[in-house]
Amino acid sequence: MNILILGSGGREHALAWAVKQNPKCDTLICAPGNAGMAQIATCMPLDINNGPTVVSFCAEHNIDFCIIGPEAPLAAGVADDLRAAGILTFGPSAQAARLEASKAFTKEICDASGAPTAAYAHFTDSKAAKAYITEQGAPIVVKADGLAAGKGVIVAMTVNEALAAVDDMFDGSFGDAGAEVVIEEFMDGEEASFFILSDGTSILPIGTAQDHKRAFDGDEGPNTGGMGAYSPAPVLTPEIQQIALDQIVQPTIDEMAKRGTPYEGVLYAGFMIKDGHPRLVEYNARFGDPECQVLMMRLGAQALDALLACAQHRLADAKINWADDHALTVVLAAKGYPGSYQKNTEIKGLDAISQNSKAQVFHAGTSSDGDKTLATGGRVLNVTARGDTLAEAQNAAYALIDQINWPERFHRKDIGWRAL
Ligand code: AMP
Ligand code: GLY
Repeated sequence: MNILILGSGGREHALAWAVKQNPKCDTLICAPGNAGMAQIATCMPLDINNGPTVVSFCAEHNIDFCIIGPEAPLAAGVADDLRAAGILTFGPSAQAARLEASKAFTKEICDASGAPTAAYAHFTDSKAAKAYITEQGAPIVVKADGLAAGKGVIVAMTVNEALAAVDDMFDGSFGDAGAEVVIEEFMDGEEASFFILSDGTSILPIGTAQDHKRAFDGDEGPNTGGMGAYSPAPVLTPEIQQIALDQIVQPTIDEMAKRGTPYEGVLYAGFMIKDGHPRLVEYNARFGDPECQVLMMRLGAQALDALLACAQHRLADAKINWADDHALTVVLAAKGYPGSYQKNTEIKGLDAISQNSKAQVFHAGTSSDGDKTLATGGRVLNVTARGDTLAEAQNAAYALIDQINWPERFHRKDIGWRAL
């Protein structure tokens, strides 16, 4: 079949790598893609947030299956347009993607389905929000309602910090995303992510992972999109996974179906785990980046079968063949990220790295200039390895990094510390 992957990050390179290994994939197009994806697929420019444009592109290139990577096209309804045009699609509708796009909506679904999560209140004016914070005290969490590129959450350790966050949000620091604010109880515990495919009614878990959101070692420094990840996440034991599926995930899927907005795609659930009990922190309507890289490394070619079963409503009969393995990815970022950084610096040494089912360098913000690979984004490469143990995967990933010659980079040296 002819497959189109929308997106250009490390997440999409990892999806492309897994899909490409499956014999069902004849032609693979990535739009817009990056320098790494261009080595295994045809990359083409495309306005991926414009549904009618994506539909025409699929018709022109005889696309049989479209996989949507990032949240922006989902929130823009690209999956709706593709399905309406009869194109097999992986990714939820805009209505279903509200589980990521609106924190207030997710809370409403939790209330309706009885899923355990932090107590909360929802505000559209700052005076009432501030009165609530003063009454509740700190620590407390202030969240912009809408999509804010992962930056709309302030975990405030003091009341003053929380009050300032409310001012920032209503002053427009987060654009329209901050026009409504959710204020939540602070949850203590260990955080981990669970990835579950849903075809609208049936679900199939496809792995657990833990991200490292802070820029620097020891979880210091500013928040980023994620500096590294590993899978599985030991804190999500099989018992806790089952509780999460029974109490949180399946009730959410059932509630979405009941409302006539079935959830079809990957549900990325973030949990806070304490004393053996998971509570929902948030949902995302897409794969995590860089969590997807470690999931794909472990799933390999069968990822395409799972995504197809999801899109074709066959998940009830689908299964994953798990190996008892571990994967770990380290993000190489441009110095200065998540603030300002230099662009178009050259990365050397990539060609000499031998890549296989246990070692992959997934590209995120890269482009090619003739024979050269240039760093064009903040998060640039995801050096990913698989091993029989997490320590083995970690050693292998860091050994690969030593072969990459890119002086303008930085990376965390402690990915995996929590589990090791
Ligand atoms: P979110 O975008 O909702 O996932 O929030 C970003 C991060 O803020 C999460 O990954 C948590 O680390 C933290 N966070 C969010 N909500 C809470 C909460 N209620 N209690 C403690 N930490 C939270
Ligand atoms: N790595 C965090 C995210 O994808 O949202």
